Amino acid sequence: MIISTKTKLTGLLGYPLGHSMSPVMQNAAFEYCSMNRIYIPVEVKPENLETVVRGISKMNFDGFNVTIPHKIEIMKYLDETDEYARCIGAVNTVKIKDGRLKGYNTDGIGFLRSFEENTGDRIEGKSVFVLGSGGASRAVSMTLALNKAKKMYICNRTFDKASSLADDIKRQTGIRCEAVSFDPEEIKKALQDTDVLINTTSVGMSPNMEESPLDKSLLDKRLTVCDIVYNPRKTRLLKDAEEKGCRIVEGLPMLVYQGAEAFEVWTDVKAPADVMFEAVEDF
Ligand code: ATR
Repeated sequence: MIISTKTKLTGLLGYPLGHSMSPVMQNAAFEYCSMNRIYIPVEVKPENLETVVRGISKMNFDGFNVTIPHKIEIMKYLDETDEYARCIGAVNTVKIKDGRLKGYNTDGIGFLRSFEENTGDRIEGKSVFVLGSGGASRAVSMTLALNKAKKMYICNRTFDKASSLADDIKRQTGIRCEAVSFDPEEIKKALQDTDVLINTTSVGMSPNMEESPLDKSLLDKRLTVCDIVYNPRKTRLLKDAEEKGCRIVEGLPMLVYQGAEAFEVWTDVKAPADVMFEAVEDF
């Protein structure tokens, strides 16, 4: 591709960015669709976020992704925020149109699309148990509640954070939502009423690949078990779940679909998800 003044720029703002797979994934998609666009990672320290955002909104950028540590702070500099991102309280994708910045959050939708495509099932009417209550959990849990999960359980090592997220979900969506303490008996009880179990904690991520956030004895074959950790592709939790006869959903498709959703926000063109998947698989 020849880069010219007509080339549209899309960025990734975060700090640090060393590990990100987004540039390889988005550039593969732009190239496949013969778009005159490039996706460039821009390391931005927190104290420079406002200056950088004001600057790129005056350049030939028409959008960008936002990652750690800017997903909440960025909201201060936007003209508009869509409903999902507002409920989640964080933005990972921004579209720039006529100098106006609109924020979206595609993390939860990425998970939902991965769940639906991998299981052929819907989340509507399902009882969901989410492990963790950090940023990733907020995006996933709120999105599932907005998409009419029947009931949600939020379980976290630090119980106060689970309580606060559960209250927020109830208030914003009207869905029944309970906080569960990190106690095997409490977890066991809630899992008896669960269809879909999702790990949003970092437990099991490389290099701690033998760790699982949940003891294998708590798993039952009725459960669909999902992990948002994608390195390794099949975590200890997913291996245990498979051995118990559960249906499993890996984390890598969520990464791809959150990127595919962002691509669609910027371009209004259906994202070539299979091309994006291949790009990250080879990475
Ligand atoms: P992210 O944006 O990836 O969600 P985060 O906001 O830092 O990251 O949240 C990390 C989540 O993983 C939290 O729910 C955290 O639990 P605490 O709130 O108790 O810290 C959870 N977590 C991280 N390490 C954990 C561990 N070893 N055991 C259990 N939970 C853990």
